[in-house]
Amino acid sequence: MQLTTASQIPVELQKRFSTAQRVLVLTGAGISAESGVPTFRGGGNSAVWKGLPFDVISSAQMVKRDLPAVWEWFDYRRGILKSLAPNAAHKAIVGWQNKFSEFTLVTQNVDGLHQYAGATDVIEMHGSIWRARCISCHTTFEIPRNDRRQEDCASCGDHLRPDVVLFGEMLPTGAFERAAEAAAKCELCFVIGTSALVYPAASLPEIAKTNGAFLCEVNPERTPLSDLCDVVLTGKAGELLDLIELSELKS
Ligand code: OAD
Repeated sequence: MQLTTASQIPVELQKRFSTAQRVLVLTGAGISAESGVPTFRGGGNSAVWKGLPFDVISSAQMVKRDLPAVWEWFDYRRGILKSLAPNAAHKAIVGWQNKFSEFTLVTQNVDGLHQYAGATDVIEMHGSIWRARCISCHTTFEIPRNDRRQEDCASCGDHLRPDVVLFGEMLPTGAFERAAEAAAKCELCFVIGTSALVYPAASLPEIAKTNGAFLCEVNPERTPLSDLCDVVLTGKAGELLDLIELSELKS
């Protein structure tokens, strides 16, 4: 059923949202869909770039085989992002930062839209498309929104690569550990706009649930996590997060 009013938000979620102290939000590509960012999967589609599936062009092997092609794909994606803005869902989450005494935002997204909206201390599980990293000395460099990116490392002169986690690579040191610790402690966990297929990010809601958290999924489609969730809100994040907030004011 498509929810259109705050009174349709399940009462148990309204209560949890009103009383929880420790809240964790895990987001994926779907939260940026209403900003115009294409998702990787979903709706029966899977992203392809110049005939290469996204998990081939975004892979550790491709960095070794053809770094310019990897940059071309990421330059293309940054080019799209330049003109896009955060949507109602990103903005709602910024408001949640100060509402709960312990709030943790974990994203699989590399698009930087949470921070653009004003989110702070975001755990970026998969890095950022707005940073480059030296393949030798690992120094990172911000990529300006409105300027060309650097070609080579200003510290050692070697090649730069996108500072994102590619298929076949480890997560940034500490990111998962920090997120898992918050997941184990949270009372309320939202899983928003992710197909929940990529691990270990998808294990965070499982950790939360195992430790007694109330789990709420927000997604227009069902995912492998749906059955584990206490509440599944079927629809768009940009519409539903506002309804959750309104429902709390009413209760
Ligand atoms: P996916 O593209 O796999 O999934 C996007 C999810 O968002 C799907 O379940 C959609 O149904 C849902 N969705 C679409 N529109 C939505 C909306 N308006 N509101 C809420 N949900 C919506 O994206 P991720 O799960 O983020 O890794 O993918 C995980 C990782 O796979 C990504 O971080 C990326 C990719 O490989 C890297 O780039 C390293």
